[in-house]
Amino acid sequence: MYIIFLGAPGAGKGTQAAYVAQKLNLVHIASGDLLRQAIEQGTELGMQARSYMEKGVLVPDPISIPMVLERISAPECEPGVIFDGFPRNLQQAEALDKALAQQAKAIDKVVYIKVCEEELIKRLSGRWICRNCQMPYHTINSPPKVWGKCDKCGGELYQRPDDTAEAVKKRLEVYFAQTAPLIDYYSQAGKLLEIDGEGGVDEVGKRIVAALHGERICS
Ligand code: AP5
Repeated sequence: MYIIFLGAPGAGKGTQAAYVAQKLNLVHIASGDLLRQAIEQGTELGMQARSYMEKGVLVPDPISIPMVLERISAPECEPGVIFDGFPRNLQQAEALDKALAQQAKAIDKVVYIKVCEEELIKRLSGRWICRNCQMPYHTINSPPKVWGKCDKCGGELYQRPDDTAEAVKKRLEVYFAQTAPLIDYYSQAGKLLEIDGEGGVDEVGKRIVAALHGERICS
């Protein structure tokens, strides 16, 4: 089972992908988390990616594509994967299709979470992330039980450097120019499930599960 979570920055891809991956017992691969881990660990890949991420633009394909394709070739990914933040443009989508086809596999469904721009900005400006397990929280919508600490693992919460007003503006521009064309790409392939992403986290999660249930993907 290979499912992509598609949507603008702040749409709730990470929040919902983590929930659905646990429910379906699939591996959750978030390209942004892989890149942030590489930066935190000071690897060569992290050093290459840092300046792009800080500016809010995409990390070049020759860095991002092999990083994700290598990750999905790990044995633990055999039962299936939920992709969050990848693919981000047509070149990445085609590279993913090709890599899966080489193993006689294919993307099953694409969950497109649709949220208006005003709400996206509200969500990103109040977001806090666990430094350890990357779980996202929000000051108002989904605060942690103990302020500054992750409910799941107790890790320290921090605000992402690319959640500044300037970087968010750039990320939204990049999304509409380079990632939004994937909505048509997957719609034409008959794989798109459009989900209304407005409303609470639980409400949106229920809509996603119902849509996947309708496709006989989850019970
Ligand atoms: P990435 O980490 O992928 O960020 P993004 O796509 O910009 O998405 P976000 O993580 O900001 O948002 P989300 O949709 O996951 O929302 P979340 O669940 O956190 O990418 C960062 C950078 O890395 C890119 O700019 C690029 O440089 C690079 N990169 C990554 N992948 C790449 C690739 N494939 N190719 C090239 N470069 C790449 O939720 C947001 C907030 O809202 C949270 O606070 C959450 O608690 C809250 N929230 C969630 N749902 C709801 C709800 N229903 N109601 C109210 N609040 C909610």
